[in-house]
This record gives sequence, structure tokens and C-alpha cells, in this order.
Amino acid sequence: MTHRILLLPGDGIGPEIVAEAQKLLSVLPMAMSVESALLGGVAVDVTGQPLPDETLEKAKAADCVILGAVGGPKWDGLANAQRPEKGLLGLRAGMGLFANLRPAKLYKELEAASSLKPEVVSGLDILIVRELTGGLYFGQPRGIRPATDPVREGEREGFNTYVYCEHEIERIGRVAFEMASQRQGRLCSIDKANVLEVTQLWREVMTRLAPEYPNVTLSHMYVDNAAMQLVRAPKQFDVLVTGNLFGDILSDQAAMLTGSIGMLPSASLNASQHGLFEPCHGSAPDIAGRGMANPLATLLSVALACRYSLDEPTIADRIERAIQRVLASGLRTVDIAQAGQASVSTEAMGDAVVKAFLAAVIEK
Ligand code: IPM
Ligand code: MG
Repeated sequence: MTHRILLLPGDGIGPEIVAEAQKLLSVLPMAMSVESALLGGVAVDVTGQPLPDETLEKAKAADCVILGAVGGPKWDGLANAQRPEKGLLGLRAGMGLFANLRPAKLYKELEAASSLKPEVVSGLDILIVRELTGGLYFGQPRGIRPATDPVREGEREGFNTYVYCEHEIERIGRVAFEMASQRQGRLCSIDKANVLEVTQLWREVMTRLAPEYPNVTLSHMYVDNAAMQLVRAPKQFDVLVTGNLFGDILSDQAAMLTGSIGMLPSASLNASQHGLFEPCHGSAPDIAGRGMANPLATLLSVALACRYSLDEPTIADRIERAIQRVLASGLRTVDIAQAGQASVSTEAMGDAVVKAFLAAVIEK
């Protein structure tokens, strides 16, 4: 079977890191067709829209999509509907990608790069399961309007709606329980049930699902405490499941535990396992075009694509092993280099991973 892969390089460092993904794809032992399309600021420049119809159609037809990053100061002044981020959110909604998996794993070679003490983070391996097509990001009504409350008259008010219905909570809950059952069997659901009704319902639905997964132990934690525990004792966690906004925040925090946000891949899946794979970091306009970006989160995202969408788990394992070897050999991009340690370019890092991957194939 030929895998149909769509590349969306996007903005900032996106094209540089996706070029490394393309290099890696070209040596993978599987039949594939690879196409590219426009998303984000670059799409606004060419078509006036951050998510052109053609891009959404191609994404829906693909088996998996590999995305770089979107956004940058050039487009910050645009109206909401035109912002590059809107393109990404539209793609998530349009493809129905409700389940976002963000694994934060600390390679032992990078222990010193973490901002936390080695004894706190060594061996860290957690998975954040973030709901991706609902919650505060998508709730209606939303907007900025003249205030109606007499106390606020003459002012404008900004408002969003935090809403989840039961089926949305249940389907992300099931993904998280499944993931936990394939790992250490510990699932922590993150909410703010002491204040927000929407997360009281979240907690109720998670609790209701638990008896169906007897090999998973479910616990609950308020999001403020979870933020603290992630830096106090992150190894207490195995799998975390949470809503869209809390997941956005906690996953950046978890990324830093692994040494650099440049190391964190992500998989966004829909009900038919088609997915979008992207690094968790942004478009980093400040370093774009300088060959400094770390391509590893994107290359790890290619591994996730092989595992979750393309049913090529052996290739996924080989990519991850190749990356581990490259790190073990001492190669570092600037974000993960120690003070005084030499660093290599985006391209050199990509080349090294390709080489290590091919060497692993020969060994097999
Ligand atoms: C992420 C990003 C996006 C999000 C932005 C770019 C819209 O921060 O994928 O975590 O908030 O989901
Ligand atoms: Mg984010």
C-alpha cells in the first residue's frame, strides 16, 4: 500500500525543519507519495486565507500530514479569521483531530539540558493527552462586544465559552485510558472541578469510564496543582488527560523538562486514525532562516506518523533509535548544547539522523 503523505511547511523555521523530515522520509523503506501544500502565514500571502480549501481537501485525502509551524510577527496585526493560527485550528477542526498526544520523554543524554535537577527528571517518560477540537478554543459564543451589564456600561467586554459535552469528554477519555493501559496503567485527569462546572462534568465522565479499564488506575488533580507537581515531582505521572487550553499550557511546561521544547513531537488523531504530526514548538521567527533550529521534534513526529497513522511501528522504532544514537554520539543543536559545547546546524542534525537510520537498517 502506498502511503499518501502531505507536508505543510508553514512559517518561520517550519520550512527548514520540514525539509529535514522530507530527507528522512525519502530513505524510509515504504511506498509513499509525498505532496506539499500551503498553510499559515505563507498561505495568507499567496491566497489571502490561512487555510486554503485546496489544503484542507489534500489533508483530508492524505493518510498523514506532517506540519512545521505557523505564525510570525508579519501576520500579527491581521483580523482573527486571517491569522495563521486560525489555519491550524481550522485544520484540526476540519480533519476532526480531537486527540492530541504529546509524549515528553527525557533522553538520558540530555539530562543536563533540563532546567530541573537530574534526580528530579532522570528517566522521565510522560504522555499528555490533550483534547484538541473543543473547550475554550472552539466554544461559542465568543467575541468582543459592548458590555451590557450596567456596571460596565461604556466598556467593551471580551468573552469565550468553555463548553464540553459528554461525548467529547468520553471519546478523549477512551483514548487516554487505552494509552495508559499500554503503558504503566496510571491515568491522571486534570481539571478545575472546584470552580468550573464544565470540568465537574469532565471529572464525572472520566470516573464513569474507569470501571471499563480495570488495568488502569484513574486519579484526578486540579490544574494548578498539576502545574506545580510537574516541576516538583514530574515522574509521579504516567498519562495525563485534559482539555484543550490546560493541555496547551501543561504540554509546554512538560516539554521544558525534557531539555528543550525542540525535542517534543505530537500526534493529532481523528476517529479513523488519520493524523497530523507536528513539533510542539512554534515557528520561532527570531531564528528562522539561520540553520539553528532543532529538527528532532519534527523527525520524532515522523516516527509518530509511522506508528499511529501508517501502521509502520518497526520504522517508528528505528527512527527513535537513530535519534537516540545521534544524541549519544554527542551531536547537539544550539538549544540542547551545554555551555561551551559545540553545536551543529539543522541540516547537519538531519543528515546525522538519516545516516544513523540507514546504519540501523543495515544492522537489522
Ligand atoms: C500548540 C500551539 C497552538 C495551540 C497555537 C499555535 C494555535 O500553541 O499546538 O500548542 O494553542 O494549540
Ligand atoms: Mg501550545
